[in-house]
Parts: sequence; C-alpha cells; structure tokens
Amino acid sequence: MLYDANPTLEGVKTIDEARQGSVFFKEYGVLSNSPGLKHFYIESYGCAMNFSDSEIVASILGDVGYAPTRNMEESDLILVNTCSIREKAEETVRKRLKVFALMKRARPGIKVGILGCMAERLKKQWLEEEKLVDLVVGPDAYRDLPNLIGGAEEGGRMVNVLLSREETYADISPVRLDSNGVTGFISIMRGCDNMCSFCVVPFTRGRERSREPFSIVAEARDLFEKGYREVTLLGQNVDSYKWENPETGERADFADLLAMTAAVHPDLRIRFSTSHPKDMTDKVLHTMAAHENICKYIHLPVQSGNSRILEMMNRTYDREWYMERVESIRRILPDAAISSDIITGFCSETEEEHQDTLSMVEWAGYSMSYMFSYSERPGTLAARKYADDIPEEVKKRRLSEAIALQRAVGLRYNQGEIGKTFRVLIERDSSKSDQEFCGRNSQNSMCVFPKKEGLKPGDYVMVRIKEVTSATLLGEVM
Ligand code: SAH
Ligand code: SF4
Ligand code: F3S
Repeated sequence: MLYDANPTLEGVKTIDEARQGSVFFKEYGVLSNSPGLKHFYIESYGCAMNFSDSEIVASILGDVGYAPTRNMEESDLILVNTCSIREKAEETVRKRLKVFALMKRARPGIKVGILGCMAERLKKQWLEEEKLVDLVVGPDAYRDLPNLIGGAEEGGRMVNVLLSREETYADISPVRLDSNGVTGFISIMRGCDNMCSFCVVPFTRGRERSREPFSIVAEARDLFEKGYREVTLLGQNVDSYKWENPETGERADFADLLAMTAAVHPDLRIRFSTSHPKDMTDKVLHTMAAHENICKYIHLPVQSGNSRILEMMNRTYDREWYMERVESIRRILPDAAISSDIITGFCSETEEEHQDTLSMVEWAGYSMSYMFSYSERPGTLAARKYADDIPEEVKKRRLSEAIALQRAVGLRYNQGEIGKTFRVLIERDSSKSDQEFCGRNSQNSMCVFPKKEGLKPGDYVMVRIKEVTSATLLGEVM
C-alpha cells in the first residue's frame, strides 16, 4: 500500500507522481498468515533502489522460512529499509522506530532490524543509541541476513555494514512485494562513483558496479512471462553502466543493455532511471529512437541551472552542457518528455543563481520535477568544504517558487497533449474511482480514463486526451 501523506517528499503532489520518483514511502506485504512460517514485516523508504532491495531481502528471507506480512502485529521480525538522502528522511525513520518500540514492548520476542542507507551511515551507533535495534544491515550485506537473524534470535545484537565492490545480487530472484503485476523494477547496477558534493549516496552505497547483462535480460523475460508489461532499469547513474565478460572480452554499455532488454518482447516496455547529464550519450538516444518499446521519457536531473553552483555541487557539467543534452533529446526524440530533480538554497546560492534554476525549468519545459531544499549531510564534500549559509526560510521560499513554476510548466506541457491519442498500459484502478483505470503513456504521464468492458490491468489501450490537470491526463479509450 502506498500512503498518500508523504512525509519525506517535498514538492510531490500525488502518489502517482511519487511512484517513479526519488523518495517515497511504501509498506510491503503479501497475504498474511501463512501457517507454519515465520513472518517479517518490512517498510521501505527512499528511492526505487531501496524498494528493489526490499524485494531481494524478501527472497533471501523466503529461503530461510520467512514469509512477508502486511500486519506488523503478527510479525516475528520488523525490518525498516532506510534512506539518508535528507535529514527529513532520517527523521521519518526515527519516528517509525518509536512505533516499533511499542510493538516490541507488547511482544518482546520480536526482532527489529535497520537496513539500507541509514544502517550504512550510522553503523554501530545504532546499537549505542537505540536499544531496540537487534540488527543493523548495510545494502551490500543482505546475503548475511539469515546468519544475522540467527544471532539475534540467540539474543545477540548483530551488525554487518561491509560494502562490497562486487555484490550485485545478480543470481537472486526478487520476490515482488506489493506489486500491481504489471510494472516492476530491475536493479542493473549498485553504488555510485560520482561525488556530487551534496550527496550521501556514495558513502551509503559504495562503489559503482554493474550487474551482468544476461541476468538482467533473464529477469525481464521472467517478468514478461508472469504477465508484467513494463520494467524500469534502476541505477544511480544508468548511463555509466558497463560490463565486460572477463573471458571473452565482450562488452556492453547502457545503450547495448537497453537494446538487449527491449528485444525480450515488443509488448514489454522499458523505462530507466536515473540518467546523469554528463554521461547520457547520443547512442542511448538513438537506441531509444530505434525501439518503440523503450519509453520516450528521460529523468535528467539538473539540480541547479547555474554553472557556478553546478561546479560547487561537483556535477561536472555546466548550464550550457546540460542545455546541449536537452537539445540532443529534442532532436533525436522529438516526442520525449524530460523531468528533473532540483535542489534550492545550496551553499552560497544567490537570488540571481536561483533565477537561473527557474529559467531552466521554463526553458527545458519539464513534464515534472522532484524538488528539494538543500539539506546538509554529514561527511559529504559540501559539508566539509562549504558553509550551509542560506537561511531555512530562504531555501523554503525558493523551493515554493520552483514548485509553483514547475506546476505551471507541467500544466502547460499537459495542455499540449489535449487532443492527442496515446498508447497507454493499464496499471490499476484510478485512485479516485473504481469506474476508471489509470496507466501511463510512453512519456510517463499518468492517464485516467473510464473503464470499458473486457479491459484489464496489463492491457494496452489507445486513449484520447480530452482534459488535463497539472499532474494527470484525462481521456477516453478509442
Ligand atoms: N543519482 C541521482 C540522484 C539520487 S538522489 C542523480 O544523480 O540524479 C535523488 C535526488 O535527491 C537528487 O537528484 C537530489 O536532487 C536530491 N538530493 C540529494 N542529496 C540532497 C541533499 N543533501 N539535499 C537536498 N536534496 C538532495
Ligand atoms: Fe548522488 Fe550524484 Fe551519485 Fe546521484 S550521481 S547518487 S546525486 S553522487
Ligand atoms: Fe536514499 Fe539511499 Fe536511495 S540515501 S535515495 S535510499 S540510495
């Protein structure tokens, strides 16, 4: 179940927008009460990578007799897969721990484990500050979970936060949690070798490594055979995907991987996230153009529209480079949608520099953006080098300006779609009515339309757009 009240995501209006986004919150579980099994309950915070990891964790736990449950009360093990990206994300997890503490008071046998990025960032500190925590497990240590849980059951307090240069969980077949049975995530790489000065991910996720391509294609094929019709290839910087067969020297880059995955079946749509402007090549764009089933949508976070700030952020591109990349997309993929991530109030940002970010939103015509005010993270380059000197109210005001502008730009973008007909993959009932379906077009816009006899989630339909809001296209099946 996805919660509408989103505590960690600023600037997101609806869950539909949040689904493919940077930070959201999800509670997992399949049917409860599998007799004879132990149960785990897991909550995931943060990016899609974490949700995908929770599905790997579910698979590893399944092998040792743990079934997922939605019902915390009947669980033997409570896991929280955490995010450190902004202070607020960490605060949210700390609030949840208070709830778990109550649960543990009622049922002392229950074990509580911290997984993911906050586990990695705070390591053993957890055991010192939170007496409630029995397990602390970093993102590369999930294979060790059965052993760690065993230790916890014997009364130990267990930690494994070792990062790996090789681990990709390539051979683990994820257990799809809380799935709509139509769209799924596939992790294609882990970690990040960029050092954006504001970002904690390289510290919590370690070095970048790419997963072997045949296991990715096999996972996509398996999903297709199970009825899924869309996969999203996940990585912090998918454009730097690279793999080399150590025996044959055969190589694959991201464009090659896209083409291989697109070949699984014409009715399996391929999406990916996230693209980095410095690495996104024309080869990728041409591959997208050559395959109808690679969705014409690129999430290309700009972070700031000002070159001085971009340099301080260590993004390794400037405003002009970014604009050139957008122009390439427009040239090679004229009907593609572009979305972005934006940070307001980064260290020393002036009003004029903030205006450059706003003018970029306007110029690029983003279909949507995830927007955040800068949150200093301990240990990052920015925390060490630059003063976090923009007052909170200024950061927030700049954020509201960016959100208001993006809303207007998004609405304008959507208005341009009125009268067009799109091929839409039906995902589920719309959140407002069980008389309507919703699903996305290739450009990733959420389309809502009245149901028609015989249609079901997983079907493709042609939908003609009649009306729009800033977040949704409303239409009817042709
Ligand atoms: N790998 C992706 C981003 C992952 S984090 C990329 O490079 O684009 C998702 C988003 O969170 C980032 O794009 C950035 O906009 C935001 N973010 C990261 N660190 C932040 C911080 N310290 N304060 C505010 N926002 C941050
Ligand atoms: Fe963080 Fe930059 Fe890596 Fe994205 S590319 S995860 S923002 S360091
Ligand atoms: Fe958060 Fe870790 Fe993802 S810090 S955004 S969960 S990689």
